[in-house]
Order: sequence, then C-alpha cells, then structure tokens
Amino acid sequence: MPIPMLKESQPKAGTVGFQTNGFSLDPALEGVKEGVLAMLALADAGGLETAVRLVRNDSLAEEAYKLTCDETGVLAEAGGEAGAVHASAALAQLALENGGVLPACTAFDEPRFGWRGLSLDICRHFFPLETVKRIVELMTFYRFNRLHLHLSDDQGFRFESERFPLLNTVGSRRESTLVRKNGKNGQDGIPHGGYYTKAELRELVAYCKARGIEIVPELDMPGHALAMIAAYPKLACFADKEHPVQVATSFGVSEFSKVLLCAGNERTYAFLFGLLDEIMEIFPFEFIHLGGDEAVKDEWKRCPNCQKVKQEQGLKDERELQGWFLSRVSRYLETRGRKAIIWNDGLCASLDSNIVCQYWRPFLAVGNRSTAHYANAGGRVIGSDFLHIYFDYPYAATPLKKTFHYEPVLGGIKKTRASNVVGTECAVWTEWIDTEEKLFFNLLPRLAAAAEAGWSQRRRNYREFVKKLPAHYALYKRLGLAYAKDAEQHLPFWKRVRIAKAFLFENTHVELPGGGV
Ligand code: ACM
Ligand code: ZN
Repeated sequence: MPIPMLKESQPKAGTVGFQTNGFSLDPALEGVKEGVLAMLALADAGGLETAVRLVRNDSLAEEAYKLTCDETGVLAEAGGEAGAVHASAALAQLALENGGVLPACTAFDEPRFGWRGLSLDICRHFFPLETVKRIVELMTFYRFNRLHLHLSDDQGFRFESERFPLLNTVGSRRESTLVRKNGKNGQDGIPHGGYYTKAELRELVAYCKARGIEIVPELDMPGHALAMIAAYPKLACFADKEHPVQVATSFGVSEFSKVLLCAGNERTYAFLFGLLDEIMEIFPFEFIHLGGDEAVKDEWKRCPNCQKVKQEQGLKDERELQGWFLSRVSRYLETRGRKAIIWNDGLCASLDSNIVCQYWRPFLAVGNRSTAHYANAGGRVIGSDFLHIYFDYPYAATPLKKTFHYEPVLGGIKKTRASNVVGTECAVWTEWIDTEEKLFFNLLPRLAAAAEAGWSQRRRNYREFVKKLPAHYALYKRLGLAYAKDAEQHLPFWKRVRIAKAFLFENTHVELPGGGV
C-alpha cells in the first residue's frame, strides 16, 4: 500500500502486467502531464508502458482519485489536475512495492487536509535550484501540495530584486558561518551566499504547477530581517545611526534579533510593498507568508517613530504594534487578491482575523492557547508543531514515529471548529544543514511520515507504515539520495540523550554515516 495510505481499497485476485501501448491522458489534465509522467517513471519497471488511462471525473473533488487495476489495464479517474498527479504517484508506489507489477485492486483516495506543505529554509544555507526541484519531486511522490520558500532571514536574502539590487549584492552574502562539526566549533571564515534569479524562480513555478504544488514565498518581517537591513540600513529604527548591520554569521535569537524593520517609518512600507509587488509578479499563487516570528521589540520601545504610531493607533504595546504592522502589509496583499500567513508569535488583538496563523511554538502554553482561541473564533490555522515536524533536529530528538503520529488539530480547538485547521506543514530549517547529504538525510524518510499526518485520518498504524519503508529506501538509493536508514528503529532513551547532547554541543553531523556515533 502506498504512503500515504489509500483511504479505501479492495484487493482483487492477481496482478496487472505491463503492456506496451496505451498511456493516455485526458486533455483536461494536460497541465500536469509532466508531473504525471515523472511519477510513473519513478516506478522504474516500464511504468510508462502500463496501459494507464487517466481521465477526469467531475464528480470527484479536485484532489480525489479512483483507481481500477484489472486485466484490461489501469484506469485512474481524477477530480482535477492535482488528483491526477496523486493517482500517478500512488500507482508508482504500488508498482515499487510489488516488484514492478500492480496488484489488481480498486481504490478511492482523498486527503484529510487541503494544505500539506513543506517549508524550506534556503537562507541559513543556500541550495541550488536543482536541489529544490529534487525536493519538489519527493513532495509530489508523497502528495504534498505547498512548497513554502523561506526567502529572507538574518543570514541571507535569496530572491532576485530588480528594484532593490543591494538585496542581492549585499544582502545575499555573509562573510562566514557558525559551524559545529568535525571538531570545529566556531566561525568557518568562508563567505556563503546565493539567490535565485527571477528566471530560475519562474522555472520553479512551472515545475511546481505541473505537479499540483503551489509555492508560498515568505518575506519574514519585522524581525529576521537583518539581510534586508544590511542592504538598506535606513529600514531599521537606528541601524544607520548607531551600529552598522551585517548579514548575520550566527543563528538563533540573539542581540541582532533586536534590529527590526521600523514600524514608524513610511520608507519601510514603501520598500515592502515594492518588494512584494516583485514577489507577486513571480509567484502567482494565493498565499504570501509574512513571518512575524521571534521579533525582539527592544528597539521599537525606544524608537520615537515607532512609539508615535503606537500612540496614534491606540495600540497597547509593541506586540500590538507588530499586529498593526503585519495587518497593514496583509491589507496591501489583499488589494492585489492575495492572502497573508504569519507564524503564531504574531497573534494579538490588533491582527486582522483573516490572516492565516501557522502554529509552530507549543512550549509556551500561551502559544497553544492563543492559537486555539484564534481557530475557535474563526481564524484559520496550519499545524507545524516544532516538536513533531521540524526536520532540522536529529532523529534522536524527533523520532520518526513522533512525526508519523503528528495531529495538526491542536488541543483546545473545539470539535466544531476543527475544520479551521486547514492542514499541516513540516519545516526544514538549515542552520545546521550545510550539505546536500544532510539535507536529504534529515528529510528522508521523515517526509513519508509527515505525508501520513497531512493526508490520512487521525488513527494511523505505525507498524504498517514501517513495513512499507524498504521499497521507499530502495528508491532513495536508486535516486542517489542520502536517507536515514533504520530511522524507524526505536533507540533506548540513554542513546537518544547522548546523540542529542552531541548534536547540541559537539557535532551537528553526529547522526550521519561516519558522523561520529
Ligand atoms: C520559527 O521556527 N521561528 C517559525
Ligand atoms: Zn522604529
């Protein structure tokens, strides 16, 4: 059975052999032909030669599909283009799991949640477009439908801007990077940088569209904005006057997190609106992420311009000033037919209630409570609990089983409001992911486990999931991708602690083959 699990399936006797003629695609599904063929090709068993007929069935929802595999071949009926890609991914997986033939069966499948995303941080470490495409291919295979691109942070700016060229010449490059591996614990002294050109991003948009995936670009504000401020210091409250700002060479919430975009200066909004215009021109999708996380408000507290706006708008504190800031930018997006998302740190009374909240931070009870309250009051929420589906942590800290069992409807949300949780999104933050090997090692097989959390119903069987993994490991191997072999195995607690400690203090590559355990 595929990953994620089919919602309904009835096995029949026998298998369906491959035939030499007969792939046909309904012209109504032509927009995803490339993605469909890419998925079938992953079956590596002459999958393209199977007599697969893919037709549109208007009685099905956009992402739903039906399969009928019998002696006459394979009929896949899809509600829409996304459903067609999902159907082809499921067929490829069935073939992979059954030695290259399809088991005779009928099946019906549709997702539990409409939002199944992966957030990719290409700021802390930049990865080339080809790598992003590989990830998109894996997302397609596991039926994800949102790629959230974290394009701007303290450590680098990754979008080509023609209006603000210093974002690229200055903001996209840092002098050095903090490392903790192979006996080195400190700055590496090696410049690191890069950004995607508009041509590359257009290519990525087309690639994603052909696979039923929408891109959600993120411009993190008013904090995590050091790369933009290094390029244009006047965007900050004091940066051009008090201290020169450089693109950050270390990570986390620290002294530099106090340097924010100034909320009391019209220059900030003119800059953001201009930049967002460029972003909207490249990404034609509905949602733009505005960040709003981990903004330390010390400078806002002593900035006369910020304080003036706070008073004029009758805002209680700097948290509400941020709510007002984000709402103003969100309203700008709305005039252009787009919608905003923010991290749950940004929830407050002054925030527009139509902004979608991405919940990541459960350790403060207030984060959980305020997000549940938001959903109960009608706000929409995406579940991204860092303890379950952040992929930057070692498997010792976030075991595969925990990711598999992630429940996006967080405690405190009323049953009648559960539909306000629109889905789930896992995240790959790359502070400590500096190589392709580590990137794919941390992703695989976690992506498969997270796929179940977004697609399948609440009750899931981990043992059944684990039985399916060998076929997937074989595929990763064939594709030449690093993966965490044996990630499904239970480690004793002492060993998990030992690895987590090593990761935190000595060696962030500790879990990799040859990484030191
Ligand atoms: C986050 O992890 N700072 C959203
Ligand atoms: Zn200010």
